[in-house]
Amino acid sequence: MVTRVGLVGFPVAHSRSPMIFGHWFERYDIKARYELLPVHPAELDRFFAEFGTMGLTGVNVTVPHKIAAAGHVRLDPVGARLNSINTVWMEDGALAGTSSDGAGFIASLDEQAPDWRSAKRGLVLGAGGASVAVCDALIDAGLDLVIVNRRQQRAELLAAKVGARAMAWDDIPALLGEADLLVNTTSLGMDGHEPLKVDLAPLPAGAVVADIVYNPLRTPLLEAAAARGLTTVDGLGMLIHQATVGFEKWFGFRPEVDAALRAKVVATL
Ligand code: ATR
Repeated sequence: MVTRVGLVGFPVAHSRSPMIFGHWFERYDIKARYELLPVHPAELDRFFAEFGTMGLTGVNVTVPHKIAAAGHVRLDPVGARLNSINTVWMEDGALAGTSSDGAGFIASLDEQAPDWRSAKRGLVLGAGGASVAVCDALIDAGLDLVIVNRRQQRAELLAAKVGARAMAWDDIPALLGEADLLVNTTSLGMDGHEPLKVDLAPLPAGAVVADIVYNPLRTPLLEAAAARGLTTVDGLGMLIHQATVGFEKWFGFRPEVDAALRAKVVATL
């Protein structure tokens, strides 16, 4: 029998998830299919009401359904803190859900910069949608975290939500001297956007610099960090590792993020 999992969103056509999961199905010889499931927002309640009859083992959830979906499942602690989910599975006969982005980010740090675990103080640039899960996971990992954002009020709201401190964007040069881990969650440095113009000179030797932007893979920020001899973490790791969470819930073990998978995803960038 073929196990069916998939992605619920609107739209879902451009997802890399079928490729990522397809790689693991092949590698581990699993008879399964990852389906794209476009569900209009007006149909989401019905989708979850009928989930049990559809023969699906679990689903990932993407825009615009991540918050609404949280209302349809039993939330794990991360899902409850964020009130947003991207991974759904069956547990004790009921639907359960979590957000895997933070775990994916942490797994990516562990893979590309294992020494980050000795970091005590983190500085996160950006307080948009992509920043929430990252900040929550870093606080959960025990970091003393400062968040700065161009519009400072967003940083203050996010800091209050996750238990971090908010400072002004103009404070970045002073804050760098105190940061063992610097993370960019803004869109700066992404193809078609301005680069992130931050002088990394004040960062302590041994600091880790991570960018969640993966297009391009080597952002100007990561290039500057590498030029300073600092360990860098690219955004591809988070993109792929977050998918391991659903895979483990549905198939019972954590799949490996191998070089072949990275290469396949890089080819789509
Ligand atoms: P996403 O959901 O992808 O994170 P977003 O919510 O629009 O997208 O957030 C984009 C992030 O990049 C925000 O932190 C944004 O800062 P503002 O909240 O002040 O808009 C940040 N950003 C975008 N352009 C920027 C720029 N030119 N300078 C500084 N920050 C910028």
